Amino acid sequence: MRQTLVTSALPYANGHIHIGHLVEYLQTDIWVRFQKLRGNRCIYICADDTHGTAIMIRAREDGITEEELIAEMQRAHVRDFAGFDIEFDNYGSTHSDENRQLCEEIWASIRQAGLVSEQAVTQLYDADAGTFLADRFVQGTCPKCGAIEQYGDSCDRCGAHYSPAEVLNPISTLTGVTPEVRSADHLFINIERLHDFLHEWTRGGEHLQPEIANYLAGHFLHEPLKDWDVSRPAPYFGFEIPDSPGNYWYVWFDAPIGYMASTMAWCNKHGENFDDWWASEGTEIHHFIGKDITYFHTLFWPAMLKSSRYSLPTKIHIHGFLTVDGEKMSKSKGTFVQASTYLEHLDPAYLRYYYASKLTPRVDDLDLNLDEFAVKVNSDMVGNVVNLASRTAKFAAATTLADAYPDDAGLFAQAANDGDAIAEAYEACDFARAIRIILAMADRANQFIEHNAPWILAKDTAKADELRDVCTIGLNLFRQLAIYLAPVLPRLARQTGELHGKPIEHWDESKTPVLGVAVGKFEHMMRRVDRKRVDAMIAQSKEDEPAEPVAESPAAAFDDGGAALEAEPLAETCSFDDFLRVDLRVARVIAAEDVAGAKKLLKLTLGLGGGHERTVLAGIKGVYQPKELVGRLVVCVANLAPRKMKFGQSEGMIVAAGGGDKEIFLLAPDDGAKPGQRVH
Ligand code: 2FM
Ligand code: ZN
Repeated sequence: MRQTLVTSALPYANGHIHIGHLVEYLQTDIWVRFQKLRGNRCIYICADDTHGTAIMIRAREDGITEEELIAEMQRAHVRDFAGFDIEFDNYGSTHSDENRQLCEEIWASIRQAGLVSEQAVTQLYDADAGTFLADRFVQGTCPKCGAIEQYGDSCDRCGAHYSPAEVLNPISTLTGVTPEVRSADHLFINIERLHDFLHEWTRGGEHLQPEIANYLAGHFLHEPLKDWDVSRPAPYFGFEIPDSPGNYWYVWFDAPIGYMASTMAWCNKHGENFDDWWASEGTEIHHFIGKDITYFHTLFWPAMLKSSRYSLPTKIHIHGFLTVDGEKMSKSKGTFVQASTYLEHLDPAYLRYYYASKLTPRVDDLDLNLDEFAVKVNSDMVGNVVNLASRTAKFAAATTLADAYPDDAGLFAQAANDGDAIAEAYEACDFARAIRIILAMADRANQFIEHNAPWILAKDTAKADELRDVCTIGLNLFRQLAIYLAPVLPRLARQTGELHGKPIEHWDESKTPVLGVAVGKFEHMMRRVDRKRVDAMIAQSKEDEPAEPVAESPAAAFDDGGAALEAEPLAETCSFDDFLRVDLRVARVIAAEDVAGAKKLLKLTLGLGGGHERTVLAGIKGVYQPKELVGRLVVCVANLAPRKMKFGQSEGMIVAAGGGDKEIFLLAPDDGAKPGQRVH
């Protein structure tokens, strides 16, 4: 049994998780779930990356402390990851005692190795903001190629790395002023002393993808490595360096150590020995990161570990960026979709599947094509995989599976055999290949069902045995698919376990059919992607930019008299239980349209989160325009029995005050409420 520690890059605590981030967290989560299903010991470790100028500035802008900001963001991150079934063994924070302790220890080793020197640094200083400017807060012209509007540390156009003081025509992005040049002493690590080690480590042992090793050789290791500046003068949000008061470790020094700190927190909670994970040859360490942070993880990080007593990474898996419809994610186009916005409209399983079907071990960018997204999920998952279960399980519901596995012309054996190739593909992070093999299996299984038509056998009681055999085969072939897809679609795997009365716990269960058990009730496993919902998500993302805070109003503004209560006296008292029988939920209006021929009705499609929706006919036409409703939150009576009305069926009701034709006021929750939340 292998013992493996896996990490994803630590997200910054000054922004929300978006679909670009999710490429990596889903890739890692799938790989970890695969390892666990194979019976390997594996832990998935992550944390928030909490230090640095950006967080300090954001907290200042929000008028809260950095600690308050990072606590709030951590809650949001944890919630978003859970919404996508991304399951960490520990989710920590770089602002933790464990991290401080480990930073001090590793720093002492680096000092001891004689790698630290002090050098004066001229940095740009924003006198208005009272702070030195981190590289990302300086913009200007690239000193190498002349490209304008480049960040202070590197150029997007020519790829050059430089110091902010070298940037031409710099401005501070904090205040827009031209920063002054000031000098301060910084601490540097002389990583050139580790050049030979890094040359060898990046080249040998398959620690890196070949294209990454080549990139490093051509861009960095062909010349002496520059000293790495690892301290920042106050004010800075981070850990003060014990032997250099007034100076703080640069965020990129303590961030990767955060991988260890979060592991240590997990060890402390579970009575594990930290050294078994970070100082043992028996443990593999796998980092998953994006290509933008290659440099930190493949040069600085191994250098830090090499200088301390800890293990080097076994492998760094590097992926490309997400594009949407072939372009960079864009706020104005609505393609910069936050994780929480996605979840309001669509089932997380869709994205898990779609990304998996496109992820390879290469560093290429991954394109989310919105048309293809819907088509692929609908044809591959709903139409092929889930269809196999739904067209079989319903005929098997009243019965038990056969006691001996019937003749299926070798289909089960072939699929059991394919398990090795699929496992190899997952192991190599070639999820696209794993999916291709799985889909070919699903095709074969569906052809078998098509040919044996259980829906026809079911009509003839004399064919009950034959029907049972066909269902036994269909449901076992489906179970094999669910096992192989379990790393990607954990919910589907859980539902499949319930269907067979036997949870899926190990990859090798694909080799043995489940026999003689009663078949459970078939629960809906995946609905078709509705393109309208994708569009609603994009429309909402255009508006997701933070709203201006609302100024407090004087109490007098709320003085609107007591006439209404006189007009309609209060209803009879009801019990608390009576009240609870009405299931009021927050809902988002996904679509709104006129109802042909109806004077007062609008037809609303309401999203209740997690892909659930209701169609409601509401008597609000003339007071509300359909287009002003799309995207807003309302409160809906979610458990109202569907009503057949003249113009169609209404599956609930939205709640409004008033009553006259022109006097209708929809109720809405305050900002921050999420579709599906109960109102009580
Ligand atoms: O690029 C980023 O989003 C960083 N917060 C990643 C840090 S990864 C690790 F080194 F901590
Ligand atoms: Zn340039």
